[in-house]
Amino acid sequence: MKGGLAPFFVDSFFEDKEDEVTMYKALYSRFLAARPGLLHCAPHSHYYWPDVTREAQLRYWDDAASMADEKWGYLFAERVPAVQQGIAKILNVSSPQQIVFAPNTHELLYRAISTFRYGRPLAVLTTDSEFHSFNRQSRRLEERGNVEVVRVPTEPFDSFAARWRDAVTGRDWDMIFISQVFYNSGVAAPAPSTWLDQVQNDDALIMVDGYHGFGAIPTDWSAYEDRVFYLAGAYKYAQAGEGCCFAVVPKGREFRPEYTGWFADFGSLAKPQDGPVGYAVDGMCMAGATVDLSALYRLDAVLQMWEREGLTSVRVHEYIRELQQAFLVRIDALGDARVNRQTLLENGLETHGHFFTFRFGDAQQVSELAAHLRERGVATDFRNDRLRFGFALYHNAEDYQQIEFE
Ligand SMILES: Cc1ncc(COP(=O)(O)O)c(C=O)c1O
Repeated sequence: MKGGLAPFFVDSFFEDKEDEVTMYKALYSRFLAARPGLLHCAPHSHYYWPDVTREAQLRYWDDAASMADEKWGYLFAERVPAVQQGIAKILNVSSPQQIVFAPNTHELLYRAISTFRYGRPLAVLTTDSEFHSFNRQSRRLEERGNVEVVRVPTEPFDSFAARWRDAVTGRDWDMIFISQVFYNSGVAAPAPSTWLDQVQNDDALIMVDGYHGFGAIPTDWSAYEDRVFYLAGAYKYAQAGEGCCFAVVPKGREFRPEYTGWFADFGSLAKPQDGPVGYAVDGMCMAGATVDLSALYRLDAVLQMWEREGLTSVRVHEYIRELQQAFLVRIDALGDARVNRQTLLENGLETHGHFFTFRFGDAQQVSELAAHLRERGVATDFRNDRLRFGFALYHNAEDYQQIEFE
């Protein structure tokens, strides 16, 4: 099995695993108690926050009270580096200071786009399955008239890797943008190791949207950290809610985004502020401006909880794969014409993301089934003709017995 898998996967995933099934629900007792009887199958949209995040939120308030405007020195000297280090460890990147935070990934995306001289022609390579943040933004850029966006269809999935590699090879691109796991199917994209060597020009801006990877799919970014931006955030599998997204900014490259905030050169603000605009030499060059860092406290608390509980990405992924198998057994037993292995979008379940997408019928039939499930206490989410079921640490395999389609 090992040889055929996407190189995103770290080797330890394949070491022998204990059989024991651990239950993690206790870590999420407050969200579970606040929504009794609900089987929440939409963590790929919004993950429940573990209990530790509530204490973290209050800690932020208390720190703000005790330090007031002096809190910023403490936050940037201690709290930001702690979370940078936690993320760097998970992604196996060597330079935590290359990690920069923002309230959402769109801000980081647009800041990166603004490193191109304003108004210059751009050739952008991407897929037809990028999340709205990039999709809307790239369509809007096309309206300029000198921005060309080529979108490689992700389907058929089994030929996508080859078609993507050919497209990368085909010409010089100013920007290449691709997900780690596609939001509209859960299918994993080919890892950069399979196409990065085909990039023709050294100045191409390359970004991977890792939102459905971080905290879910064991990811070793060390081979790409000097070349490829990695974008992700805390709203999904990092379980810390909205407000704490981040980018791993490639090291040793100079980025001067036009859309810049004063945090991007924090260390030099005491110097005269005239002449060419300066930037930090690390990931902070992509920073914005004043931000509510309470979400960073929540993320810090989650990262510490993962450490305490032994919840590595490898362990989390293993647990979710067990849940996915249990879910498949349940839908096999239900024998529904809409939700079954034939309507499941996939390209190999070993590398699949942490939600399943079923495509059937039309938008109305899908929304009707989602509503039917919701009435029976099963929360899913749907987009057009696709129904998505996500899997979370706060599920147990037997929970899926609650699912009924009729
Ligand atoms: C693949 C992907 N990227 C990004 C986001 C979030 O984007 P933003 O941080 O710009 O709101 C989502 C949210 O669902 C997503 O699915």
